[in-house]
Amino acid sequence: MTQSQPDPSVSDRSVTLSDQLTLACGQVLPNRLMKSALSEGLADTSHGPDTRLERLYSQWGAGGYGLVVTGNVMVDRRHLGEPGNVVIEDDRHAEQLARWAKTTTDGGSRIWMQLNHPGRQANPIASREQAVSPSGVAVAIPGIPAPRPLTESEIYDIIERFATAALVAESSGFDGVQLHGAHGYLVSQFLSPLVNRRTDKWGGDIESRMRFAVEVIRAIRAAVSPSFAVSIKLNSADFQRGGFTEEESRLVVERLAGEHIDLVEISGGSYESPAMMGRGTEPVKESTREREAYFLDYARTVREVAGEVPLAVTGGFRTRSVMVAALSSGDCDVIGLGRPTAISTSAAGSLLDGTTERLVSPVISVGAARRIKKVKSLEGALDLQWHTDQLHRLGAGKEPNPDRSAWRTVATMVERNGITAFRSSRRGFDTTAADAKAIKKFRFERLVGRYVANPMMRGLTALGISVSLMSDIETTGRKTGRVRRVPVSVKFDDAGAWLVSQHGTRSGWGANITSNPTVKLRQGKTWREGSAEFIHDDDVALRARTFAPNPFLGRLIGSTFAALQTTPVTVRVTFTDLPN
Ligand SMILES: Cc1cc2nc3c(=O)[nH]c(=O)nc-3n(C[C@H](O)[C@H](O)[C@H](O)COP(=O)(O)O)c2cc1C
Repeated sequence: MTQSQPDPSVSDRSVTLSDQLTLACGQVLPNRLMKSALSEGLADTSHGPDTRLERLYSQWGAGGYGLVVTGNVMVDRRHLGEPGNVVIEDDRHAEQLARWAKTTTDGGSRIWMQLNHPGRQANPIASREQAVSPSGVAVAIPGIPAPRPLTESEIYDIIERFATAALVAESSGFDGVQLHGAHGYLVSQFLSPLVNRRTDKWGGDIESRMRFAVEVIRAIRAAVSPSFAVSIKLNSADFQRGGFTEEESRLVVERLAGEHIDLVEISGGSYESPAMMGRGTEPVKESTREREAYFLDYARTVREVAGEVPLAVTGGFRTRSVMVAALSSGDCDVIGLGRPTAISTSAAGSLLDGTTERLVSPVISVGAARRIKKVKSLEGALDLQWHTDQLHRLGAGKEPNPDRSAWRTVATMVERNGITAFRSSRRGFDTTAADAKAIKKFRFERLVGRYVANPMMRGLTALGISVSLMSDIETTGRKTGRVRRVPVSVKFDDAGAWLVSQHGTRSGWGANITSNPTVKLRQGKTWREGSAEFIHDDDVALRARTFAPNPFLGRLIGSTFAALQTTPVTVRVTFTDLPN
């Protein structure tokens, strides 16, 4: 099959950044620089694109990119990757979508919409229903509930949804769509042998596991016109033991090359192992370090099977000369840029006109977490949110702030996404067993304590924000009669203290005070005696906010309790050791 037409102007010399690229659908990309998908979270309350997106994309549209790919747009409002995702289920937002596309194309770029279904990576706070996935295998992120397996008719419904969204994108003035087949979302869940344990035609060998991706691409192609670009972002591998491999990825590219596809963008990893952000669990090879781009070695090996289908590679590109080398060596045809475009919306223009040799891309890290091993995924999530914060600034008409503190982002992260925004690289376990569920909850809370609450407290203390709310409570075990001491958050006053029992009356100490309300509470270095009772009609979120002396920290605590997804109840301890 003939895919991209060789451009006569470039056939006798090596390709440069400013060369056009003609795609199989006939569309011409004005140059080889692509703004890769960056999820913006800037939809309005009905999940339509709002004016903040127009503000942001007018800058990218004029930023010199040959191609701008939108952040992932969801195809089902019941299942969202993040709060604030744009959703397309029909043409109800056609006018807003048209304005979004036009603000970009007016600047001279092409705009493609990335379409996605999060599957088991749905954000449980933003989503309305239990997550779905090929099988019921839970994501190895404590606190994310287990998904349920999709029925076959639901699989066909999702395929249809992708096609509908593509059609709406085309009629709203977008130049193409990109199927998000990477980073552990639904398409990549189908591809992964770890996640897809189906025994019907959608699971099993790689042929069956790629069926979903192929069917979605076919349905989209059938719905849109031949001049509309259809592409996919695909993982080179999942970077997980037993996961989707490079060899399997090559087979998928080979198959998709026969499906009238215009471009394959190569990435890798998932939020369990964020290789796409250069934070995978494997050490970075020397060759990768030199060539910056994380997936260029793989791209070279996929060239042959991709046939005429152009390849874009995204992840790690920062230096102009490295990008030029990647193109002129023929390893890829398009350079994908992610994070640098959130700091400099005109990154492409400055590379093309030679005013920039190296793009700015700060390393986002909180010192406390870096010391702890196995928190790459935590920092990956932080990196992601820090850049999302920049997109929100741009959407609000402000300049990006490369000096923004990572700690500020920790707060935003908990507020916007809940604790589930923090991803762990731990392995999952069988969530069907009741005891595994309890372990999962325990691990989640321990993780929150270790990797969120404690580093956060340390960081805030280092910043000079005093934290006086951490204390301990002593109750008497209802079964054992033994004293039990657990850490709690407390707001003291003269007559006693306010606490929040995270699991209401069901927590260990909650059940203890139901059977015996006599407690001790540590106030500084002194143990106070008191009597505890549940105040069921108290507004627990408001109460939690009053705990912190600093309003910023108070908001954080309020959302932390909300994000824990339990039913917390206020507890009042009245001191019994006061002098009469
Ligand atoms: C804030 C943020 C949001 C992202 N959202 C998406 C997304 O919606 N879809 C996607 O395919 N990749 C997404 N990515 C990954 C980027 O497209 C890209 O693969 C990654 O940032 C590596 O490229 P870079 O090193 O140039 O940043 C996101 C990355 C960041 C930082």
